[in-house]
Amino acid sequence: MSVATPNPATGHQVSLQTERVLILDFGSQYAQLIARRVRELNVYCEIVRHDITPEQIRKHGPIGLILSGGPSSVYETTAPKCHPEIFDLGIPVLGICYGMQLACESLGGKVSNTPTREYGRTICEVSKPDPLFKDFPQQSEVWMSHGDQVQEVGSRFVPLAKTGTCPIAAVRHETLPVYGLQFHPEVTHTAAGKTLLKNFLYEICRCKGTWQLSNFAEEAIAQIRERVGNARVICGLSGGVDSAVVAALIYRAIGDQLSCILVDNGLLRKNESSLVVDEFTNHFRADLHVVEAEDRFLNVLSGISDPQEKRRRIGHTFIECFQAEAAKIENVRFLAQGTLYPDVIESGAAVDGPAATIKLHHNVGGLPEKLGFELIEPLRDLFKDEVRKLGIELGLPESLVWRHPFPGPGLAVRCLGEISKEKLEILRHADTIVLEEIHSAGLYRETSQLFAVLLPVQSVGVMGDARTYEFVAAIRSVNTDDFMTADWSRLPYDVLARMSTRIINEVKGVNRVCYDISTKPPATIEWE
Ligand code: XMP
Repeated sequence: MSVATPNPATGHQVSLQTERVLILDFGSQYAQLIARRVRELNVYCEIVRHDITPEQIRKHGPIGLILSGGPSSVYETTAPKCHPEIFDLGIPVLGICYGMQLACESLGGKVSNTPTREYGRTICEVSKPDPLFKDFPQQSEVWMSHGDQVQEVGSRFVPLAKTGTCPIAAVRHETLPVYGLQFHPEVTHTAAGKTLLKNFLYEICRCKGTWQLSNFAEEAIAQIRERVGNARVICGLSGGVDSAVVAALIYRAIGDQLSCILVDNGLLRKNESSLVVDEFTNHFRADLHVVEAEDRFLNVLSGISDPQEKRRRIGHTFIECFQAEAAKIENVRFLAQGTLYPDVIESGAAVDGPAATIKLHHNVGGLPEKLGFELIEPLRDLFKDEVRKLGIELGLPESLVWRHPFPGPGLAVRCLGEISKEKLEILRHADTIVLEEIHSAGLYRETSQLFAVLLPVQSVGVMGDARTYEFVAAIRSVNTDDFMTADWSRLPYDVLARMSTRIINEVKGVNRVCYDISTKPPATIEWE
């Protein structure tokens, strides 16, 4: 395969010359995890629909296919299937869990429900040496999560490993390059899982392992230059890592043809915008437009306490401000956005190709297509951790690259109910303290998102000899991989104690602090 140019409609930055593996997604919650593991092993991969045709596969030119797990049973009539001819393409296939069952069933094996479902850790024993199990211990802990298993493989498959309740826990086809694992090598609970994925990629697919973010950056920069020509690109900066990395990458490509717009809505954290402003004026010397819009936002939010209405008004006002500023900049043809690969996958655009609608990224306010610019989305092939690494490579400071996510509507959704400048000030102060304390405890990187919330209730307290009647602040700290589910952080009591003492002593207007111990679901991370 030697198609070097990226698809201009999808804006993919990774040329088809890069060796790649395709992951056919059968609805697994782990498909993205498989992709990350493969990329960690220096092989570029993409997640595609399970029913991708052999013709479409050939266009991608993969050197390996991975069939993901999934919640269905292969014998159900509605079960998602792959095209049967994908096993005849001569491309090595690794089926994981459901993927293995599907491969075995498609090639003559028999799958059925087992009386002993297996969920969780179990010991896997290798029964036959094979390149797939090179350097894998004879017995090792693996992670199972299945209700079905392959019962019979006839003479077409060779069983390679077993567990106490699963006699066929790994297989290889007799003549085709088709492998299967009943357990999940991609999860960390499978102790030597990475060895198996590495063996599949390097021993079986014969990958060279050339995928590196530095190559990605060079390739992306060259493609942006070619696509943009002499035109101007605008990019909204939100204070977050994605938009900062997009801007840094585009700046490297086209220098002062990039104009950045930062809408200061008065709902940002203390110093939220100044770090970005410093970076993009001093380090990158980009053309930066800061729209001072605090009064405008506070006006439209005045008297509004419904969370959805707050969000709606903030979104509209953001777009109006952005649009007005963009109109002042001449010769703009492109709008850069920090869409990441998980957004692309969730929108279904990753597999449907050029015609698919791309979900607009909400980080910079969900700019509508009617702004009339062509989109540039240079991060759409990357995961968040890759974006962070890229940010460091591009010279962005760690303090910016490792920032916790911050929602577009900002402090407005953390200052519950009706907001005011005074309440925002109280919240901003409490929030600064919790961040200072988590940093000084060395735990910022151990938590995924941490912030203060100001509740719209007052409670009685006593300070000195006097009775007080002041607001309650809550501390929210969560740990999560994907922000779809989250657990509350088990912060040490002494760290919580310091946060609470400092907030009550230093923040005028707060006399009580609570710690939020709700998981998501059913709670959300933000309070509004
Ligand atoms: P929830 O509160 O839904 O948040 O559990 C999940 C993640 O999304 C962030 N979030 C937003 N980000 N615009 C954004 O850019 C929004 O309107 C928004 N709402 C929530 C939230 O901070 C968390 O990281």
